[in-house]
Amino acid sequence: AGFTTLDMSIYEEGVMVTEKWRGKPIFVLKKTPEMMKDEEGNPEAQARNIKVGNDNFMIAIGLCTHLGCIPAFRKDKGDFLCACHGGMFSASGLVTKVPPPRGFDIPPFKIDGNKLLLG
Ligand code: FES
Repeated sequence: AGFTTLDMSIYEEGVMVTEKWRGKPIFVLKKTPEMMKDEEGNPEAQARNIKVGNDNFMIAIGLCTHLGCIPAFRKDKGDFLCACHGGMFSASGLVTKVPPPRGFDIPPFKIDGNKLLLG
């Protein structure tokens, strides 16, 4: 009970959308071919990739793992910058610049056709 359902067919490549789940921001990023290329040879990044149909997504709780600020997506660079202490995250959600101690946390989810059920 209490799933939040996202229709994954509405998202556009390279456009980060912030959804909401249990009062938390949820980052949804449909990856571009460039972002997928960046993940090649990076098992940690590939393990975080969420495939729905033919599309690839980063889905994450949109809170910096340092002290909980909400990082901003930089569309031109395709990454995330946390303004609080300068932490950075890749399009895969991994840390590219400290101080964040780990990548974005991933919420519990199930995939059902084109839908993603959070919770
Ligand atoms: Fe994000 Fe400190 S809260 S870098």
